[in-house]
Amino acid sequence: MINVGIIGGSGYTGGELIRLLLHHPQVEIKFVFSTTRAGTKVSATHSDLLGQTELLFGDEVDHTIDLVFLCLGHGNSTKFLQKYPFSETTKIIDLSNDFRLKASRSFEGRDFVYGLPELNRDTIQKAKYIANPGCFATAIQLALLPLAQSQLLDNEVHINATTGSTGAGVGLSPTTHFSWRANNMSHYKAFTHQHLGEINESLTYVQKDKGKLLFIPNRGNFTRGIWATAYTHFKGSERKAIDLFKDYYSEAPFTQLSEEPIALKQVINTNYCHLHIMVHDEMILIASAIDNLLKGASGQAIQNMNLLFGFPEKEGLDLKSGVY
Ligand SMILES: NC(=O)c1ccc[n+]([C@@H]2O[C@H](COP(=O)([O-])OP(=O)(O)OC[C@H]3O[C@@H](n4cnc5c(N)ncnc54)[C@H](OP(=O)(O)O)[C@@H]3O)[C@@H](O)[C@H]2O)c1
Repeated sequence: MINVGIIGGSGYTGGELIRLLLHHPQVEIKFVFSTTRAGTKVSATHSDLLGQTELLFGDEVDHTIDLVFLCLGHGNSTKFLQKYPFSETTKIIDLSNDFRLKASRSFEGRDFVYGLPELNRDTIQKAKYIANPGCFATAIQLALLPLAQSQLLDNEVHINATTGSTGAGVGLSPTTHFSWRANNMSHYKAFTHQHLGEINESLTYVQKDKGKLLFIPNRGNFTRGIWATAYTHFKGSERKAIDLFKDYYSEAPFTQLSEEPIALKQVINTNYCHLHIMVHDEMILIASAIDNLLKGASGQAIQNMNLLFGFPEKEGLDLKSGVY
């Protein structure tokens, strides 16, 4: 049994962590830190937790806790760790992008490991500090890693990915406002989205001379999920591609290749990534679907926690999906 703390508990990823960890057999939530709601019931903010927990938000941390999850916006994790120096025995899983890039992985004597189990499970198992990957970055890397591993990302890769409104966090903005988002569609940060940094670092680590990634992110008219498609040049049969993906993910409990076309809803509320591939006229198309708040954030953070503490990788993540 381990004791954990959650920082940024009133946000979307913090809320998902609380929901999942309340049912994790190896975990006790000792504190949920909030800058705005100390003293109030967690279930007053996350109203679906009514009847499931009597936890209160707090404004103090236990510096010697076994594990702390940082669920803060970009730049705030570094500030938080400077203000609240946790003991050397405290493991940290950070959900922001403060420590994801190689240049920022060392921080005040701590070395963060990039937490994508399908890329570096062994390193995660030995780590103390985890930089949890971004949501787009997870969906896209899982679509491309098997090709990179076989040195087959030789040409430009065209990527289009659409996220639900929860990807932008709990704070309201013009493009997450219901009146704007409903029945609407738009792209943003074309070719420049910040997740390209971590995607490029991982893929280049696996295939040094990989082709350029051209990524167009979209805002979708739904609340949760990421639907990504990527296509690039590919020589060989569809069967060869399927075998290559199945082989790469043979030990990955949450990343599954479907031989039937997939749809976003089949992974919502789960920690799964579902992939589908088709080959046509020397082009390969990979579709990748995840729940941005689970495999794209809090679910993957718990998967990483399980690896850090030697728990079964799927512990606490046996979740129910649904397609209608
Ligand atoms: N949403 C996603 O799908 C997703 C996916 C992958 C990664 N991420 C990353 O995960 C992190 C959290 O995302 P989120 O969607 O949960 O964000 P969020 O909904 O905006 O929640 C962040 C929470 O941080 C707390 N906070 C704000 N400023 C703070 C400060 N200066 N010091 C301490 N706490 C502060 C606030 O909680 P209190 O008011 O309770 O303090 C806020 O609710 C972000 O870095 C995001 O990029 C998000």
